[in-house]
Amino acid sequence: MAKIGLFFGSNTGKTRKVAKSIKKRFDDETMADAINVNKSSADDVAQYQFLIFGTSTLGEGLLPGLSADCENESWEEFLPQLEGVDFTGKTVALFGLGDQVGYSENFLDAMGALYQFVVERGAKVVGATSTEGFEFDSSEAVVDGKFVGLALDLDNQSGLTDERVNNWLKQIAPEFGLSV
Ligand SMILES: Cc1cc2nc3c(=O)[nH]c(=O)nc-3n(C[C@H](O)[C@H](O)[C@H](O)COP(=O)(O)O)c2cc1C
Repeated sequence: MAKIGLFFGSNTGKTRKVAKSIKKRFDDETMADAINVNKSSADDVAQYQFLIFGTSTLGEGLLPGLSADCENESWEEFLPQLEGVDFTGKTVALFGLGDQVGYSENFLDAMGALYQFVVERGAKVVGATSTEGFEFDSSEAVVDGKFVGLALDLDNQSGLTDERVNNWLKQIAPEFGLSV
């Protein structure tokens, strides 16, 4: 089994694309293939000590899922399935996609929701990043002045994505025992 599990929720496929690009950098022993949460079970998640969760934010500050008018179920429907999973001893890194111009009041809120969920269940969350380089009014993904994970905006700053992903993977590498 791979050391790190990589799970994402996505509506139009942008978060899936980023998840796949992350997986591509590592061999199969290090990282499992990126899996859409609508094809995952709680047991799939529970088996990993090291996890990466990715999400977009939809609606106004919502997790992807039916309430946000997604065609398919996603994080909104998957989180209740994870309620019984004990995250104590697990290390989790989060990445989020949003639109700081169109949704400045709710930028990346869904990443904040994932953060709250796993922290409440005992996870150690790594990979917080600076808000520098972003302009927005409000975000539930900001805790103690930093984003709780990797912040990406493919709608307005797609040219910065590779660099942001690279820097973040370098940042979390020691926590995940990775060489990047
Ligand atoms: C209907 C709609 C609502 C959105 N709401 C938010 C939001 O509340 N906050 C935010 O940061 N981004 C919001 N976005 C931007 C998306 O998160 C962004 O386009 C993201 O890259 C989509 O990724 P996905 O294709 O993986 O779902 C919204 C986009 C759409 C189309």
